[in-house]
Amino acid sequence: MNLPRSVRITGWGAYAPETVLTNADLTRLVDTSDEWIQSRTGIRERRVAGPHETTATMGAIAGKRAIAVAGLAPDDIDLIVVATLTPDHITPATAVLVKEAIGNHRAAAFDIGAACSGFVYGYATAHAYVQSGMARNVLVIGSELLTRYLDFTDRNTCVLFGDGAGAVVLSASDQEGGGLGGLELTADPGGAWSIWVPAGGARRPTSAATVAAAEHYLRMDGRETYRYATRTIAASALAAVERAGWTPDEVDLIVPHQANLRIIESVAKGLGIPMDRFFIDLDRYGNTSAASVPLALSEAVDAGRLQPGDKVVFVAFGAGFTSGAAAVTWTADPACGRRADAVEPVASIHQPVDWDAGDPVPERLAAVLADKQRTEVPA
Ligand code: ACO
Repeated sequence: MNLPRSVRITGWGAYAPETVLTNADLTRLVDTSDEWIQSRTGIRERRVAGPHETTATMGAIAGKRAIAVAGLAPDDIDLIVVATLTPDHITPATAVLVKEAIGNHRAAAFDIGAACSGFVYGYATAHAYVQSGMARNVLVIGSELLTRYLDFTDRNTCVLFGDGAGAVVLSASDQEGGGLGGLELTADPGGAWSIWVPAGGARRPTSAATVAAAEHYLRMDGRETYRYATRTIAASALAAVERAGWTPDEVDLIVPHQANLRIIESVAKGLGIPMDRFFIDLDRYGNTSAASVPLALSEAVDAGRLQPGDKVVFVAFGAGFTSGAAAVTWTADPACGRRADAVEPVASIHQPVDWDAGDPVPERLAAVLADKQRTEVPA
């Protein structure tokens, strides 16, 4: 087996659906305000997937962009890993549907369930595959369609999340250095019921009663999650940085999970790293869970925030509780990002002939979006 000298990010890409849901729009669904959401979270707006979109189609568009940026063809990919907590179906894996949509005929494909930490877990998995010689090119995607798992009568959750996808390609390199320097992955079962979906699994199968009790929606203890996040993110990032042999002040950019600006500010304080070295886009996308780090990474590279040789840290936390941090030396030429412009934002996946998904957008949300469209389009 020909082992690589290093494992490097060669491609990156993102996709966000067109429809914007502002804080003002949310005031039509729940008792909230733009002032409350912005001051407590930093979020101004988020994106909502259209009826024709799914976690797999969004992930596939981000994935196709990452493959183009890497200068590869779809069939160069040996493994597809999709991190998501909002899969299209319990089975098959969303990664298998992505494989069809990107036009790959040879890759293995599976999903990773580590909630918002999923991308970092996926990155670690992909790195191990390439490092061991089991794969040369791995596509790692974080894709989430959270608006279909939210209770739009619950102001504690529905204001926080949005839809989107991000992806990277990890490739074997014959050059020394670069890539992953230090990694930290954690899982704390003590937080298992702080963010969860009670029904629809083997412990509580779907029934009329579970639907009536709204047990298929994401539930969250916000305060407990906040406490965990502020404790864990700085500790995870620091562990990865130390394993890489770096000190925090040497880090050029941190791409954190985009859950809450206050959490990120507290992490910055804990690490003694100024806020201008944290990349933030949560004001425009909200919390997109496993998609949040790769979506932000893609935007950061395209905005010129990363150059070859820079030290970057990806850090995330989420349901489980899980957390993950990766300290990575950036090696790719940011100019390659322009190759993504040639990729059309379309993806198609065949459906069973005797089945129709109908319109999957939650009714309350669809009504607000339809109203918004009516008022925005001149008669
Ligand atoms: N609009 C207006 N008021 C609200 C809203 C809202 N959308 N949501 C809650 N409130 C109210 C509460 O009911 C409470 O009222 P009360 O004092 O009368 O009881 C008050 O605002 C304060 O509530 P807190 O929960 O103390 O507000 P806090 O400042 O903690 O902010 C928040 C809440 C934003 C949810 C915060 O706790 C947080 O960000 N937690 C972390 C959540 C997170 O990151 N989750 C993602 C995990 S990642 C994953 O894996 C999915």
